[in-house]
Amino acid sequence: AKITYIENGGTEHHVDVPTGLSVMDGARRFTIPGIDGDCGGACACATCHVYVEGGWAERLPPMEEIEHDMLDFAFDVKENSRLSCQIKIDDGLDGLIVRTPPRQY
Ligand code: FES
Repeated sequence: AKITYIENGGTEHHVDVPTGLSVMDGARRFTIPGIDGDCGGACACATCHVYVEGGWAERLPPMEEIEHDMLDFAFDVKENSRLSCQIKIDDGLDGLIVRTPPRQY
């Protein structure tokens, strides 16, 4: 799926992330700055925090409780905050836009 990552400074990255990877995995694969993913996707670090933009926040599958709990540890959490390792790519997410926060902790 085509995913747009927008850095906090405004730089945009348009990449094609394969199905089965997470939004965090995609950021690592294409070395997009601003998403750390220290725990490797285990929902145990909150350093993969992103803001979901462009109306996508409502269209994603809802958060599991573990994501909700871990998100409390992220910096500057907003209504459209998610942990990107918990967003799994499939064709339905083609066009997804995420923005990185000013910092991860
Ligand atoms: Fe650690 Fe997402 S990579 S919570």
